[in-house]
Amino acid sequence: MTEYVEIFEMGPRDGLQNEKRLIPTTEKIALVDCLSEAGFKRIEVASFVSPKWVPQMADSAEVLAGITRKPGVSYAALTPNMKGLERALAAKADEVAIFGSASEGFSKANINATIAESLDQFAPVARAAQEAGIRVRGYISCVTDCPYDGATDPAQVARVAEALNEMGCYEISLGDTIGQGKPETIAAMLDAVLQVTPAERLAGHYHDTAGRALANIEASLERGVRVFDAAVGGLGGCPYAPGAAGNVATEAVQARLTELGYETGLDPVVLDQAAEMARAMRIG
Ligand code: HMG
Ligand code: MG
Repeated sequence: MTEYVEIFEMGPRDGLQNEKRLIPTTEKIALVDCLSEAGFKRIEVASFVSPKWVPQMADSAEVLAGITRKPGVSYAALTPNMKGLERALAAKADEVAIFGSASEGFSKANINATIAESLDQFAPVARAAQEAGIRVRGYISCVTDCPYDGATDPAQVARVAEALNEMGCYEISLGDTIGQGKPETIAAMLDAVLQVTPAERLAGHYHDTAGRALANIEASLERGVRVFDAAVGGLGGCPYAPGAAGNVATEAVQARLTELGYETGLDPVVLDQAAEMARAMRIG
């Protein structure tokens, strides 16, 4: 039987958050509705961060209110703090994510907190989400390289992963935020993280700045990782990571996984339509 590998679609959140043009809410809703027909089980559609920090995501509640929710699809949102969680619960996000960093420089730049402070802030968010019956995903950014601090020590990624495990995160997504990871550095990082978290609870979140995301996915597949984050049309970047280009394109990951003999459950025709919509949003 063909082995299943899941792609977690990031386009409406990680893909769009860095766009300078304020994209009309109706366009975001149309993109999500198209993606819902592609066969994803999880789509990240919202980010309840400070609208002063990321204006593009200010209409996240309206997006969640406007989409047609397909049964069986989990519509996810980022929640950096309690205020974000309250907004996510009010908007009926199906799951939420807390997002930390393995490097101090990026942690300060992205969420204005040290790693230790951020973990202290995340703990009550995770607890309250779980009490509300919502599952929590954990991100770790800069797992191999940081735009401020240089190379990341794999042991530091494992330490943050342990903290997220203790908070009850059901899955940890490992972010190569600036797309500078190489198969060797991704493998070394995974070897450290696998000491504290089984591969079944890990995801690879690789930006494609240097064109190595697909090679990094293959290195991760060899180590048992079976979930990868990607954005249709290769949109994206992080406003607080200079030089961060787009997420790896969903359609490219889908094609490579299919070539390698894995099943993704995605409809390539619908994916291409969504990718076209996403690319038009960037130009528009
Ligand atoms: P801060 O300025 O230290 O926080 O920001 P604060 O508590 O002092 O609040 C400042 C203002 O924001 C206040 O408003 C708060 O009410 C408001 P004011 O009194 O000035 O009018 N505020 C909020 N408003 C709405 N929703 C909220 C919220 N929180 C505070 N949740 C904070 C700290 C974390 C809020 C800020 O730094 C922030 O929003 N950062 C998010 C940055 C971001 O979204 N980055 C991109 C996502 S992460 C990413 O892309 C990486 C990832 O893809 C993985 C990878 O690639 O590595 C996940
Ligand atoms: Mg990202």
